[in-house]
Amino acid sequence: MISLKGISKTFKTKNGAVQAVDNVNLEIEAGQIFGIIGYSGAGKSTLIRLLNLLEKPTEGSVKIDGKALSSLTPSKLRAARQEIGMIFQHFNLLWSRTVRQNISFPLEVAGVPAAQRKKRVEELIELVGLHGRGDSYPSQLSGGQKQRVGIARALANNPKVLLCDEATSALDPKTTDSILDLLLDINEKLNLTIVLITHEMHVIQKICHQVAVMENGKIVEQGPVIDVFRKPKEQMTKEFVKQLAQTGEEEQSLWHLLDEQSDGTIVSLTFVGNPAEEQLVTELIRRFPIDISILQGNISKLQQGSYGKLYLRLLGATNEIEAALAYIRGKEIDVEVIEHDR
Ligand SMILES: Nc1ncnc2c1ncn2[C@@H]1O[C@H](COP(=O)(O)OP(=O)(O)OP(=O)(O)O)[C@@H](O)[C@H]1O
Ligand SMILES: [Mg+2]
Repeated sequence: MISLKGISKTFKTKNGAVQAVDNVNLEIEAGQIFGIIGYSGAGKSTLIRLLNLLEKPTEGSVKIDGKALSSLTPSKLRAARQEIGMIFQHFNLLWSRTVRQNISFPLEVAGVPAAQRKKRVEELIELVGLHGRGDSYPSQLSGGQKQRVGIARALANNPKVLLCDEATSALDPKTTDSILDLLLDINEKLNLTIVLITHEMHVIQKICHQVAVMENGKIVEQGPVIDVFRKPKEQMTKEFVKQLAQTGEEEQSLWHLLDEQSDGTIVSLTFVGNPAEEQLVTELIRRFPIDISILQGNISKLQQGSYGKLYLRLLGATNEIEAALAYIRGKEIDVEVIEHDR
């Protein structure tokens, strides 16, 4: 659906040239949610703006749905852009227009007749969950609702691709999740290809199928989310993956727990895309004459399986515990023995 070949963008500034995007190659399949993660200044926004030619590439080619955007005439480019919707961190709504009028705007630009516009706007309001808010002004809406307007507006002309530039970065965690759920929903319902950029691993974890990690204008690592989580290669990817694995608070409460009860073998299991953890515990109890208690777990669901850590206490004969650990390792789950009997 999207193909970038040898894309570079250099900005000329007073202080010299800035290479914001450096020889990027990307293939994004139709229907995917593709995440690009990187720290500030990595070149993410520039890259996503190159996808709809809001920035002109210094070098390389952009193909969307078989069309080479860089070689289109201005009027053909305008038409091609209607197939690409975009949403932004700060929503970019028209403040003097109501929700309905904001959503209607791209339809007016595209020359859609009034009656058809009206019908389409109502459909979109329902689709993004803004029922009853059609006559509100942006200033009367919460951040999450504003982004819903942004999404409805971006979808107005039935695009094939939706570009999201830090679309949830201005929102609190709960609202972020509701907007991510909406993106997932429209990806499935409309088979829409979504490219999103973010600096939050949580966003990648929750909805992306594929991820690319960007640093200094380059894609340094990419692949299915589950593979990148399982075996991050680059230092920076490891840092991002670590963000998710454990929060400081949980770790502390675990140590507190261990201080109180100190017998048994304490192990941490790291799940990356493996089947459910409950099932594993049941299997262990059935197969081995040992006692198991779950000390703590923070397992989250990825698009392709579960991810996270589970802390177990195993009580029983040493050889049985060894056998149980071998069994777990055989399931390709990472096991770390934190503590033996003290
Ligand atoms: N129009 C411009 N003129 C000059 N330099 C620019 C321009 N746009 C971006 N840059 C530079 O290109 C580099 C990449 O910027 P970009 O905005 O793409 O990064 P980003 O990954 O989106 O960062 P952030 O997470 O802060 O949004 C930065 O060094 C930035 O200063
Ligand atoms: Mg940016």
